[in-house]
Amino acid sequence: LSCDTDEFDYQGGKTDFEDVYRPQIHFSPQKNWINDPNGMVYLDGEYHLFYQYNPLGTVWGNMSWGHAISKDLLKWEQQAVKLYPDELGAIFSGSAVIDKNNTAGFGENAMVAIYTSSGQKQTQSIAYSTDKGRTFTKYSENPVIENPGMADFRDPKVFWHEATNKWVMSLSTHHTITFYGSANLIDWEYLSEFRYYDGGPYGIWECPDLFPLEFNGEKKWVLLVSTTNAPNGGTATQYFVGSFDGLSFKADPAPYPLWLDYGRDNYAGVTWSNIPDTDGRAIFIGWMSNWNYANQTPTSGFRGAMTLPRSLSLVQHSDNYLLLGSEVVSEIESIASDWNSVFTGTIVNESKTVEMGITAPPAYELEIEFSDVQDTNPVLELSNVHGDIVKIELDLLNGQLYFDRRNSGHVSFNFAHFPGRFSSPVHSGLDKIKLNVFVDQSSVEVFINEGLSCQTNLVFPKEIYDQMNIVSDNGSLDVNIGVRVFNSIW
Ligand code: FRU
Repeated sequence: LSCDTDEFDYQGGKTDFEDVYRPQIHFSPQKNWINDPNGMVYLDGEYHLFYQYNPLGTVWGNMSWGHAISKDLLKWEQQAVKLYPDELGAIFSGSAVIDKNNTAGFGENAMVAIYTSSGQKQTQSIAYSTDKGRTFTKYSENPVIENPGMADFRDPKVFWHEATNKWVMSLSTHHTITFYGSANLIDWEYLSEFRYYDGGPYGIWECPDLFPLEFNGEKKWVLLVSTTNAPNGGTATQYFVGSFDGLSFKADPAPYPLWLDYGRDNYAGVTWSNIPDTDGRAIFIGWMSNWNYANQTPTSGFRGAMTLPRSLSLVQHSDNYLLLGSEVVSEIESIASDWNSVFTGTIVNESKTVEMGITAPPAYELEIEFSDVQDTNPVLELSNVHGDIVKIELDLLNGQLYFDRRNSGHVSFNFAHFPGRFSSPVHSGLDKIKLNVFVDQSSVEVFINEGLSCQTNLVFPKEIYDQMNIVSDNGSLDVNIGVRVFNSIW
């Protein structure tokens, strides 16, 4: 495939922002298809988000890198497409770094994109920008890593490893992750391989990300791996926590698989590189879909969106291993109204309608605290006048949360895979539960107990859910509910 760059660059033009499913606080492309977030890097006050993009249509194909820039991780400005397919193949997923010390010779502070060229075989290539990501030049000697004979050999994620003074790449190589090292981003040598067999069927491993996180003053390493073996079907992202010595990654003992998100729609996510040191956050964004039905979701003109950006942190589980928690980044405050307390009281053996006090908001967040929980199965229902409903059900005896989207709205575009009831661990005791629920036009993101566990799910209701019921039919609950609405980011 050859693409004339000018022809397909986004020029403004007609876009469908009126689509009832257009996310109002999540990044989505003005038109056409997106999947994985790629090349996320911060430079001089700007967060760059590249992504798998089809410049020519609303289903997967012609993979290129689209581009958007934000100052606050929320309001995005879509840019011209940055990398188009070439003689080495389509431009598959990858990462970007800032080459502060000019190790590659492209210039001080060059932005270097490392991606998979997917042609007859998958190889790794690089491209660089010396104008803060506005234009890229592909390196003339691509590929920089040849394929050793593997069908799945892709999704390079690169970071600078201070202790051993070199770049380290994580690469997915079927159901293993292979690490490579380089002094200059051009010449790469094999370091090691990580594999983990948890007894289930082998899934394909994609989009790895190895990054450090502090826990109690100790530096731990987290390895994200996206896989086709998701806990609730289709594709999802798992993680390992362990150590990395510049050569190999070793996972600490834990009851793997552990999932970054137990919902159906958070895939191929990785973290931003070059976040300012003073900040110390690991900021994550994922593709809000699932390969089971990604090509069929019922939007018009565009297809695909990203999750809300999240800050990742390590939390000790009572059984003495580390969990990866996620919370929406604090920048969300900048588009949020004040909290409005809409209910405080005890609910006993009833289905209580709680007025949210909102009319068709662009998007909103609920904060629900259950305390003195006698009912072990409380349910939160969100619905609209059309009868579309999602149920968020707690099973506190078994420590599970269920997200039921069987009657959430339009589900028949893929009846085999889309409707369903999905489970996730609550990861904490019985008596106190806090839910933070972010509702947009076509998604619901549920965070349990400050992000100890979460579920992200797409939904396609005829209108955003604006009615709430709390059901306690098995005893009593003390409940405290706050609501706040968000301004649209567009
Ligand atoms: C993950 C993935 C990657 C690949 C890209 C292609 O969703 O399959 O492994 O690079 O999508 O678009």
